[in-house]
Amino acid sequence: MKKNIPVTRSSMPPFEEYVEIIKGMWDSRWLSNRGTLHRQFECELKHYMGVPNVALFANGHVAMEVTLQALNLSGEVITTPFTHISTSHAIVRNGLIPVFCDILPEDLTIDPQKIETLINENTCAIVATHVYGYLCHVHEIEEIAKKYNLKVIYDAAHAFGESLDGIGVGNYGDAAMFSTHATKVFHTIEGGIVTYPNTTEFSAIDSITNFGFTGNDTIGYIGTNARMNEFEAAMGICNLRYVDGEIEKRKLASDRYREKLSGINGITLIKPQEGVKYNYAYFPVIFDGYKYDREQVLTILAEQGITARRYFYPAVNMAECYKGKYCLQETPIAQFYATHVLTLPLYADMTIADVDRVCDVILK
Ligand SMILES: Cc1ncc(COP(=O)(O)O)c(C=O)c1O
Repeated sequence: MKKNIPVTRSSMPPFEEYVEIIKGMWDSRWLSNRGTLHRQFECELKHYMGVPNVALFANGHVAMEVTLQALNLSGEVITTPFTHISTSHAIVRNGLIPVFCDILPEDLTIDPQKIETLINENTCAIVATHVYGYLCHVHEIEEIAKKYNLKVIYDAAHAFGESLDGIGVGNYGDAAMFSTHATKVFHTIEGGIVTYPNTTEFSAIDSITNFGFTGNDTIGYIGTNARMNEFEAAMGICNLRYVDGEIEKRKLASDRYREKLSGINGITLIKPQEGVKYNYAYFPVIFDGYKYDREQVLTILAEQGITARRYFYPAVNMAECYKGKYCLQETPIAQFYATHVLTLPLYADMTIADVDRVCDVILK
């Protein structure tokens, strides 16, 4: 019986090293609420990500919710339907209206030209996702945002560790949210990070994360509890020491997939983007005109104990809670990819033999 191959597997730091970092908590008894590990982790992240400011959160989803609240927006937000449902939930849960904009076939990110056609006097922001770590067309988006005075917030849940032309990805837009969930390239068990260049614009972010407290007895905002705890911060400190090596290992597996699956009729791979230092977060494959369709490949792999993922499916504007409500504009390209993409198993300690096994099942 062959072993199962999961779609993802969490990276784990050396056990003793993690225990060494958390030991101090048995004396301090300080487990959450901006403890020393939280503050240390913030400093180390700023340095690693090359950004001026970071805020830490309990998960990526609340990080996006708090970011949108901190910006005090109202009206319509142009966003992508080809993303995790979290992105549009964060918009709607802030009382904002999502306006779905179609995507580009080459990298599945939001189409800047189409953004412009959707802007009206109610538009306040663009919320775009760096899909699978493929970066949005940030310079074009920035120009549009400047022209119409819009905020730009990136869902960079997939993009930790990346840069464009040597500039850390967290420096693009008014803010960028990174998920540090257990399944991500870099994780803190559960967690989220927001990077932002302008401290005035985000002066409320820490208060909103902590129920809206602005002082011991003053509550200035209708906030939430979105705090990262000390065990999570400790995992982050520990994993940050190893993340570059983990990305290198992912690259080896990813390169092997590319070598084996390139040039096959009916199988399309997304090309690497110029100037991007990629993190090899996912390995998406588009099945269009292959001898098996996406659903059949998923089933054939599952029969062999291999888990692939329909990611993202359904497109957000086709989800039960959005259908007919917010999906007034057509997004045919997003619909197409939502029904033709599979992300294949990929994690740092995936062996080349396992990559070969996945490819052999697909190709035979
Ligand atoms: C694109 C995207 N945005 C947001 C999220 C939500 O992040 P979290 O699970 O940390 O809340 C995810 C989670 O996978 C995601 O893929």
